[in-house]
Amino acid sequence: MAAKNSIPRLAVFPQTAEVNKKGNLAIGGCDTIALAEEYGTPLYVFDEADIRNRCREFKEEFTKRYPGTIVSYSPKAFTARAMFKLVAEEGLDLDVVSGGELAFALASGFAAKKIHFAGNNKSGEELELALREGIGHIVVDNLPELNMLIKIAGRKKVDILLRLNPGIDPHTHQYNKTGIADSKFGLPKADWDEAVQTALAADNLNVDGLHFHVGSGLFEYEPYLKSLDEVLAYAAAIRQKYGFRMNLLSIGGGFGAQYTVDAVPPPVASFAGAIIERLTTRCRELKLETPKLMIEPGRKIVAQAGVALYTVGVIKNIPGIRTYVSVDGGMGDNIRQPMYGAVQEALVANRPAAKDTRTVTISGKYCEAGDVLIKEIKLPELKAGDILAIAGSGAYCVPMSSNYNAAFRPAIVFMKDGRARLIRRRETLEDLTRRDPD
Ligand code: LLP
Repeated sequence: MAAKNSIPRLAVFPQTAEVNKKGNLAIGGCDTIALAEEYGTPLYVFDEADIRNRCREFKEEFTKRYPGTIVSYSPKAFTARAMFKLVAEEGLDLDVVSGGELAFALASGFAAKKIHFAGNNKSGEELELALREGIGHIVVDNLPELNMLIKIAGRKKVDILLRLNPGIDPHTHQYNKTGIADSKFGLPKADWDEAVQTALAADNLNVDGLHFHVGSGLFEYEPYLKSLDEVLAYAAAIRQKYGFRMNLLSIGGGFGAQYTVDAVPPPVASFAGAIIERLTTRCRELKLETPKLMIEPGRKIVAQAGVALYTVGVIKNIPGIRTYVSVDGGMGDNIRQPMYGAVQEALVANRPAAKDTRTVTISGKYCEAGDVLIKEIKLPELKAGDILAIAGSGAYCVPMSSNYNAAFRPAIVFMKDGRARLIRRRETLEDLTRRDPD
């Protein structure tokens, strides 16, 4: 813990991050420099204990206040066979958003009944796959999907949630607002009644409950509370009108993770406390039976557990302008800075305790001027061959990666108790060429 005090940035690294006897950054008891040598860079390394602790934290903090809460991990944040297995071991459900995620989860042995399927433009094929496999819920996003589902379901009885767009601003980056009225996601208020009437009238649908998702990367719980007000008031109205009983309510994901030393999001316990207090109070006021609750965290479960390791290459100092430190990855494996202006912290993995001396820009190796990983960061004097470790790389980096410039996407390693296991090998030329005919 001494290291945590003398190196403040370690606070945004995985929970087991420390400086080892060699003076290198170690995670899960594994030396990151040795891993970089063994597997090459860029390399994504994950602290398995960190991921498991966060799964448990969500489960504990919600279920102790509201027994039976279903924690449904959103694999869009990080998708891998090893991750599906870990999530299943931790007893979580899964919130998928495509036939691909669904098929990947099933192929990894995930129980179909514990999978719930959201998404704003599901195809007939995707719905058919979901019905064939008998998944937990289809989260119906819009009227055309509802009508298509009624046709496809035939004589099967399908459990659905209706995704309501509550029209609430989550105060996140514009691209991460999903519950505002001007959004492609969810049923707009104008469609709520028609959706409920249609769904309740369909013999082959069981409307198990309602769903909303306000956005991603929330640092406030107020948007959840306002959305609860909207959705619970509506649930009470349709209880009266149609006798509809909301058995399950999903409030989506969105819990903010800590990426920088200074911007600390509220802990899961605070989100849980505020959300459950509002849920139970409103239900009492509205004389609604309390529903079963579902949450869909993605980012918060994996963001801090993952670290990206890069090798420093060309360092270019433009006097009076800027110093560019180029590394051997970039926007192909992490597009979050160019896309959302994301800010992440870094340490020099081969001397994390060294003193910061110079402000630099960490750029990638892609043929794109916007290919930046960190816009400005104060780091120790760097040289080619140093290993840079970027924290907060566990969520929405690998799943959004590309083969731009024919890059081979990185290998991924899980680390625990001093043991590292390769959970995805680096891509090869064969991976890149095999889909193209000669
Ligand atoms: N449930 C639904 C219906 C969602 O659309 C999402 C995220 C989640 C749950 C999980 O949200 P989380 O707990 O991870 O915030 N690529 C962006 C984030 C996009 C989030 C999309 N939906 C980024 O890198 O910031």
